[in-house]
Amino acid sequence: MRILVLGSGAREHAIILSLRSEEAGHEVFAAPGNAGIARDATIVELDANDPAAVTEHANAHAIDLVVIGPEAPLVAGVADALREHGIPVFGPGRAAAQLEGSKAFAKRIMEAAGVPTGRAVRAHSLAEVEAALDELGAPHVVKADGLAAGKGVIVTEDRAAALAHAESYLPSGPILVEEFLSGPEVSLFFLSDGDHVLPLSPAQDFKRLGDGDAGPNTGGMGAYSPLPWLGDHVAPAVEGESSDPEEAFVDLVTREVAEPVIRRLDEEGTPFIGLLYAGLILTPQGVKVIEFNARFGDPETQVVLPRLLDPLSELLLAAASGNLEDRSRPAFSDSAAVTVVLASEGYPEAPVTGKPLSGLDAASAVDGVHLAHAATAESGDGLVATGGRVLNVVAVGEDFAEARDRAYRALAEIGLEGGQFRTDIAARVAD
Ligand code: AMP
Ligand code: GLY
Repeated sequence: MRILVLGSGAREHAIILSLRSEEAGHEVFAAPGNAGIARDATIVELDANDPAAVTEHANAHAIDLVVIGPEAPLVAGVADALREHGIPVFGPGRAAAQLEGSKAFAKRIMEAAGVPTGRAVRAHSLAEVEAALDELGAPHVVKADGLAAGKGVIVTEDRAAALAHAESYLPSGPILVEEFLSGPEVSLFFLSDGDHVLPLSPAQDFKRLGDGDAGPNTGGMGAYSPLPWLGDHVAPAVEGESSDPEEAFVDLVTREVAEPVIRRLDEEGTPFIGLLYAGLILTPQGVKVIEFNARFGDPETQVVLPRLLDPLSELLLAAASGNLEDRSRPAFSDSAAVTVVLASEGYPEAPVTGKPLSGLDAASAVDGVHLAHAATAESGDGLVATGGRVLNVVAVGEDFAEARDRAYRALAEIGLEGGQFRTDIAARVAD
């Protein structure tokens, strides 16, 4: 197949590496990509957020499948334009992508579909925010309603800080004040063809900047998959269901979250074709949704796809062309996958960019390790970092102790002045 992947992050690099690992030998193109992606795909000059330009390019170059990585092209209507021209595309149209872009839309769909989620109040003024904070109590959860790249959310005991956060986002739109949900977080991805869903393997993301979950929220500083502790949070199997904890968990979320949401979106005339990302909290009262995304998670994709045994291209094409019903659930290896993000100094507030990177070949040479680039560019005789999250070290091992050891040995080889990374990714599952 000739496959065009839109986006420029480590998630897109992971998707491309997975496509490239297939025996079928695809031709993979990327726009805009980055220096790491350029080693594994052909970069095409194209504005990935321009629906007409992407459609024209796909037609002119006989592209068989377009895979949309980030949310921006979805919100810009790139998938709608491609679908109107009969070009298979993995990614929802603008209307269905609101599931990610508008937290109020997501809450409405969840309510209509009977999906378990925390209570939320939509506030349009500081007075309404204050009333909601008092009604829902501490800890306070305050969210900007639109896309804010992971930075629009504050979770705090401090009422004044919650108010100040709301005040800073109120000029750009309504604020959601949410009930605080406590418990471990799980990211679970579903492929959807608009009608049917197939789950992938669960992963956990580390959203905070620092070790021990200290510091500000980020786009994600690391991840691991699978989640060996799921059994502690899932009710014992009932007759007729799987006794494997991961399978039982995935069955439950498929039935209670993914299927009702996909059905509801279809009923509303906005079918969701692409990747439904369910961000879940395993509360003592059961699994609840904190958020949906309309695309693969970053960095979770970097640990889910290396464990996928089925050819990714076939799954994405089946979703894009309405054929998931005929496919069985994707299979995953028993190996453990860990990824650690290397970020620039100053991330997430004000990343320092342009610093040279060294030691990447030595890092990739560590057994079971590969790199997924997020923000790198060629400069003279080497690579420089061009953004906040620079690259992911991804390590696969027989168990988490091995995967973690490999990831951190590889990181020790990499030089980036001022670079930051967490040292505790997957630590709790590695003992
Ligand atoms: P979101 O952008 O909605 O995914 O929120 C970012 C992060 O904030 C989540 O991954 C959680 O760690 C935290 N968070 C969001 N909503 C809640 C909530 N209702 N209760 C507790 N933590 C939350
Ligand atoms: N890892 C969080 C996200 O992709 O939104």
